[in-house]
Amino acid sequence: MRRFRSATSLLVLATVLPLPLMQAQNPDWFPKKDMLTVGVYYYPEAWPETQWARDMENIHKLGMEYVHMGEFAWYFMEPVEGHYQFDWLEKAVSLAAANGLKVILCTPSATPPIWLERAHPEILMVDAQGRTMEHGSREQADWSSPVYRDYVTKIDTELAKKFGHDRRVWGWQIDNELSHYGRRFSYSRASTARFRDWLREKYGTIDRLNSDWGGSFWSEMYQNFEQINIPNTDTLVADPSPHAVLDFERWFAHEAAGYISLQASVLRKYSSNQWITTNFMSMNGDVDPSLSAKTLDVFSWTHYPVHGQPNEGPLGFRLGSAEEMSFMHDFMRSFNGLSGPMELQPGQVNWGEVNPWPLPGAIHMWILRAFGAGARLVCTYRYRQPLFGSELYHKGLAETDGVTPSPGGREYSQAAHEIAELRKRYDPNAREPEPYARRRTAFLINNDNRWDISNHRQTSRWNTVAHWMRYYRALKSVMAPVDVLTPDRDFSRYPFVIAPAYQLVDDDLITRFKTYATNGGHLILTCRTGQKDMRGHLREAPWAAPIQSLIGANIPLYDVLPVGVNGQVTAGGKTYAWGSWGDILEPDTGTEVLAKYADQFYTGRAAVVTRKLGKGTVTYIGVDTLDGELERALLHNVYQSAGVDPANLDPNFVVDWRDGFWVATNFASRTQRIPAAASAQVLVGEREVPPGGASVWIER
Ligand code: GAL
Repeated sequence: MRRFRSATSLLVLATVLPLPLMQAQNPDWFPKKDMLTVGVYYYPEAWPETQWARDMENIHKLGMEYVHMGEFAWYFMEPVEGHYQFDWLEKAVSLAAANGLKVILCTPSATPPIWLERAHPEILMVDAQGRTMEHGSREQADWSSPVYRDYVTKIDTELAKKFGHDRRVWGWQIDNELSHYGRRFSYSRASTARFRDWLREKYGTIDRLNSDWGGSFWSEMYQNFEQINIPNTDTLVADPSPHAVLDFERWFAHEAAGYISLQASVLRKYSSNQWITTNFMSMNGDVDPSLSAKTLDVFSWTHYPVHGQPNEGPLGFRLGSAEEMSFMHDFMRSFNGLSGPMELQPGQVNWGEVNPWPLPGAIHMWILRAFGAGARLVCTYRYRQPLFGSELYHKGLAETDGVTPSPGGREYSQAAHEIAELRKRYDPNAREPEPYARRRTAFLINNDNRWDISNHRQTSRWNTVAHWMRYYRALKSVMAPVDVLTPDRDFSRYPFVIAPAYQLVDDDLITRFKTYATNGGHLILTCRTGQKDMRGHLREAPWAAPIQSLIGANIPLYDVLPVGVNGQVTAGGKTYAWGSWGDILEPDTGTEVLAKYADQFYTGRAAVVTRKLGKGTVTYIGVDTLDGELERALLHNVYQSAGVDPANLDPNFVVDWRDGFWVATNFASRTQRIPAAASAQVLVGEREVPPGGASVWIER
């Protein structure tokens, strides 16, 4: 059995793990002792003013602590150009405050008013087929348009001047789910111009761009930056340069981050002591929260777990995906510790292919998952079910009569009251217990990899997020606390680091990996890693050359199998099926083989290897199996070999620790038992946790 460090030094290690603070945070925003705060969206502009007071009072009675308002209300804030009208909002803020509710206000840039679009049609986005988007929905504006940016700056300025020093206003949300939804990107003249500017800045000369984009292939050479258009598969006869597409995706994410930063700087100029966030979309790869790490104070996202997708097990379609929910928490929390879902589903939605009910209890479980994952806020869209508009089948916390709590409303209320009770037991000196702390794992992701792989998947069976999730599930089964990090972050002090499908690598990252393992860390790399440089070019060297000396093996070939054909791999006497990717490995002397291919022309050759490097280890898992069970067994083995006792939970039964409390949430379709000592005191739920159930306990 290999050991990483003595138990004592690991305890020290676990307690000093860094949670870097990017912004100057005000401790009053989210007092630690409050742990998680709960709130809801309210749209005063959509309801008769005579009902606002009643609604605020009922929101408070449900146990909500804040209301979120204004993200779609530009027309009501500025009905005529330059005539700002905030009296109605002022009244809503006063009523919220009178009912003990804090307020999150939003910039309304997701829904430009009609007068602006008719006066300046150039602010509208253009889709891939060259069609200009119309008024009558949302996110139709092009945030690259300088004209649009001017108007957004003006409305944000007026809003911030009015409410920026208002103590009743707790924080700000910028825009709403910054994206163009199904249209993805704008191909307008404004976006094209800003993409060209970004390229000019990045490359300096057109020769450098031609070289990085591989312009000598198919005569794709450019003579100047003005000739470049956004790569658009709707107007290209055959495949575009993957390097051009990669740059465009990078640009788009930077452009979105720049737009967030523009709005944040306007708000900061006219406000004091209020935090700023934007609500990113769960798992969305087009916009990258890590690019706003230094801009935002709070990291929030929107999450709708049940909208017709099957998930796992017979009840999965009513419970949501344990791994997606937990992964987003572990990602968004990692920036500065102030995070949480800004929109967590309150009941049936309207926009899925089919929109079933969440399992009774599931909504409560999701809130407790937020609690267990260390979130500081959880907010739900929305208080009242709309009676008109495109979301009129969408549940709220109140039924259509506007007053009766819905089933989701009752679950929110229950959770809010439980959290209020748990706060009474908050212990500021609680320390992360062992062996949980000793399993802490950094999970490295980088959008460059996700984009580059999707530009050239090589097999339709590959899915990068599904690949990540096979490992993430395995970590939750081991019961490891996980921080999902982008590579700019320091991972050197984590006992375990996993970097799945890390296709693009530079020398610096390889050096960091080597140093990490040499100093005693346990590094896990997976298939597709190290194939390309940061431009997305293959290297003039053996396949995946940069990682050879790190993993202690060559990768002379890889294989992918057609749909309907599965290959076999054996490990520890068991056989596993794979189909999407198999790296065939040639181990160096001293490298141990953990799994081998059991069929095809490379039968008997290595699929998984591990080696010691300095005081640590490097494990390379070259195969992507169908059900992730091999990956789970291998990770279990890595933790065990490192002398860190792994748990063996159902991956849909997620257990985490926060602030002195153990929290279990059951996304599995079968009842699970909490891993608690007989002496533990169960504060919420039971020791047996049914599907959709949640339990909280303290160990004495
Ligand atoms: C979110 C969006 C909300 C609302 C909600 C409905 O994606 O941010 O404004 O549309 O979906 O489920």
